[in-house]
Amino acid sequence: MSLTDEGHYGPKQLNMLKTIWGEGNLSPGGTDEIDEILGDYDLSDKIVLDIGCGCGGAAFHMIEARNAGHVIGFDTEPLVIERANKLAIEKNVSNQVTFKCIPPGPLQFENETMDVVFSKEVFLHIIDKEELMRDVYRVLKPNGYLAVGDWMREDDNEPSEQMKEYIAAEGLDMFMCSIDKYREILEKTGFNIISMHDRNAWYLEKVKGEVAEIEGPLWDEVVKAIGPEEGAYALDIWKKLVGVVQKGEHRPGNFRALKN
Ligand SMILES: C[S@@+](CC[C@H](N)C(=O)[O-])C[C@H]1O[C@@H](n2cnc3c(N)ncnc32)[C@H](O)[C@@H]1O
Repeated sequence: MSLTDEGHYGPKQLNMLKTIWGEGNLSPGGTDEIDEILGDYDLSDKIVLDIGCGCGGAAFHMIEARNAGHVIGFDTEPLVIERANKLAIEKNVSNQVTFKCIPPGPLQFENETMDVVFSKEVFLHIIDKEELMRDVYRVLKPNGYLAVGDWMREDDNEPSEQMKEYIAAEGLDMFMCSIDKYREILEKTGFNIISMHDRNAWYLEKVKGEVAEIEGPLWDEVVKAIGPEEGAYALDIWKKLVGVVQKGEHRPGNFRALKN
């Protein structure tokens, strides 16, 4: 039994993540963390590409609170995009957002068409980060802005047994690299780095709180969303996650950069 036995980001996984992280979000931290990644950059009237947009939480925030002109979000999972489109209608922002389901591979967008490229907790699923970053550079307009949050690792050595056990429990493809590796790739690609932040300390407190909520006030909702057995399985994954974050091997982080 696994949260992903109906596919990556299938119905059970989506219902569980919605219960813990809120409507539209498939990653932790809500709008505060999206702003943390974006920084002060003025999104007014900008065209933003959201790589791995999930159910649209960040896209809606960029439109509603950050005044983005248009957000193009794409994701590899059809169900995720279906939910994002449904939420866009409910929020009455369908004219400012385009959600597309696109298979993994090179970015299917023309050269120099995006003012901003944003992504949150997606690059970990993409194995070739150099190729990805070259592609991001290609679609950005000159002086375009890149803002990324990702789940990273403390180094680029073989993951520990504890980490492997956590990744296996998740049942997802996870190819996490270090923040130093990202620095190297960004520089090699030609980006001017603005900032790079390690978020391990922040997430450690957060993820401990998430476990307490799953075990406590959210338990009934979790059971309603995915059933008691899967709920117990999900709780076990979250506890494994606390372990690798506490160990310091799992390190969420973010970076901002400008295209030269
Ligand atoms: C942890 S979720 C984050 C989603 C969203 N960014 C958020 O923060 O709510 C990761 C997302 O990446 C998507 N994904 C996985 N591989 C991808 C790829 N190669 N290109 C685009 N999206 C991908 C998954 O389907 C999933 O929706």
